[in-house]
Amino acid sequence: MNEVTAEKLFSGPIGEEYEMLKRICPAAADMSRRVGEFVAGWIPKVSTESLNLVELGCGTGVTTMNLIRARSDAMITAVDNESTMLSQARRNLAGVLEHGRLRLIENDALSYLQGVPSASIDVVASAYTLHNFLNGYRVRVLEEIFRVLKPGGVFVNGDRYALDDSLTHLQSTQEEVRQYFRTFTELNRIDLLEQWIVHLFSDESPDHVMPLDKGLGAMREIGFDAVTVHFRQDVNALVSGGKPWP
Ligand SMILES: C[S@@+](CC[C@H](N)C(=O)[O-])C[C@H]1O[C@@H](n2cnc3c(N)ncnc32)[C@H](O)[C@@H]1O
Repeated sequence: MNEVTAEKLFSGPIGEEYEMLKRICPAAADMSRRVGEFVAGWIPKVSTESLNLVELGCGTGVTTMNLIRARSDAMITAVDNESTMLSQARRNLAGVLEHGRLRLIENDALSYLQGVPSASIDVVASAYTLHNFLNGYRVRVLEEIFRVLKPGGVFVNGDRYALDDSLTHLQSTQEEVRQYFRTFTELNRIDLLEQWIVHLFSDESPDHVMPLDKGLGAMREIGFDAVTVHFRQDVNALVSGGKPWP
């Protein structure tokens, strides 16, 4: 597989029963709230009537809902490359879709961004999506995020960033595996246990894993400024970076 290929890791049972994530990773719902909170508090350099906001990997719409609540002045384009996830998002966000402030697009993040004009977006937001990417593809997506942001615009990402100390990271991953076993044996869902363990192998593979230091370094190398970690708990981190304002 090519390093810049978009993968589809949520087509099967994991995507169909995505609400299980709440049980094995309660931190994810909290992170969606934090992404919304960050965007709510973000002040554009130039005041504008309507913010252009892009969400990458909207999934079933959990973070999207937080973004909608965060800013009544935002036009949101939420992108995902899995029809299973988008059909759930369409149901969960039906009321919001009617108001015309949100559109859902089925495309992979890189292809979508490549079609967006330079310096046209105020905010790019994402939650638990970039860690799924192959390393080469992730760098290309970050470069495109930087290109499409307006000067002074911001990228905010609440995601799974591997711990920089590999032994501590290993222990944290082992604890996650135990949590998966506890949850899915209690629910008698060995089928889902298998799927989530397989998924974790993908997250943890050298081709995908996203250590925090490396992730921040990649953003700085591309040109993001004020790259900041706002929150860190185990592997979960809320990170933002700005496109420099002239
Ligand atoms: C772990 S889920 C997170 C969903 C959502 N952001 C949330 O906070 O609940 C990751 C999502 O990213 C999507 N995704 C993965 N790779 C993608 C890509 N290359 N382009 C667009 N979406 C992608 C998956 O389909 C999935 O819906």
